[in-house]
Amino acid sequence: MPLPRRPRRAVVPALGLAALLLAGCTTAPGGPGGPATPGAGSGTASPSAGAVTSPARGGSSPAPTGASTAGGTSAPGSPASSSSTASRSTAPATASSSPAPPRSSAPAPGAAAGHRDPASLSVLVNKQNPLRPLDWAPADLVTPDVPATRSGLTLRAPAARAAEELFAAAAADGVDLSLVSAYRSHAYQQDTYAGWVRQHGRAGADRVSARPGHSEHQTGLALDVGARDGSCTLETCFEDTRAGRWVAAHAVEHGFVIRYPAGSEAVTGYSYEPWHLRYLGTAEAARVAAVGGVLETAWGFPAAPGY
Ligand code: DAL
Ligand code: ZN
Repeated sequence: MPLPRRPRRAVVPALGLAALLLAGCTTAPGGPGGPATPGAGSGTASPSAGAVTSPARGGSSPAPTGASTAGGTSAPGSPASSSSTASRSTAPATASSSPAPPRSSAPAPGAAAGHRDPASLSVLVNKQNPLRPLDWAPADLVTPDVPATRSGLTLRAPAARAAEELFAAAAADGVDLSLVSAYRSHAYQQDTYAGWVRQHGRAGADRVSARPGHSEHQTGLALDVGARDGSCTLETCFEDTRAGRWVAAHAVEHGFVIRYPAGSEAVTGYSYEPWHLRYLGTAEAARVAAVGGVLETAWGFPAAPGY
């Protein structure tokens, strides 16, 4: 079946709401953070229209808006809902863009805890390996100090620091990135996925959007990036933008891999997402990249094309 189209986002405030509806990784019908179910109340991405904001300028934290709560951290009552929204004001910028050699071949911190521990930086989440419990939420979410398409996006602290370094390095090379999506709660993902199902049916949705409890975004270790000018946001043509090329070339240096590479749908279960980055830490990202860049293969998991 044809892949559900990921439409181009032209003018964020005016059109982004509708366009981003269809961006499976990040959004559901409703906005860059999420779907159109009113009052879903998930912290990360309440599907309120107010969650759609223009990209923040410069390196400042996303400006609080009326949607800041909606754009916040976690589902109400989740372990992360109160203590995890602290925003850092400084970015430990690492401006170098030269390739960094792998620091070691040792597993990333957390690997000892296993790929099935949701709190591990090495957790593997796919269609065959849901988070357990399904509504798990991180306890160390913070707001990275990076430009974002809306306020309140959060990541786990190590991923947030790495994202700040990634964005700073890109900026040093003259590439302006925006954070488009980050942590998404179980409730938020539920609405996102449901929006896709409404539009494309279950099979179509499953190619581009994870079912709740099965999304890497719920780990707080995954983020979607875009070009600051909004070109090709959440579209495969992002790979051909300057921002997309920079990310493909440099994400690993900062501890990220493109989680759903081109041509790997039979293994990952998802179509190509050149914008979706998974934080692993620099050593593990380099190791995974060196063996092909697909987590399932690198970590010895079977292919997970379906549920
Ligand atoms: N788009 C990715 C697969 C997600 O929904 O988590
Ligand atoms: Zn994503």
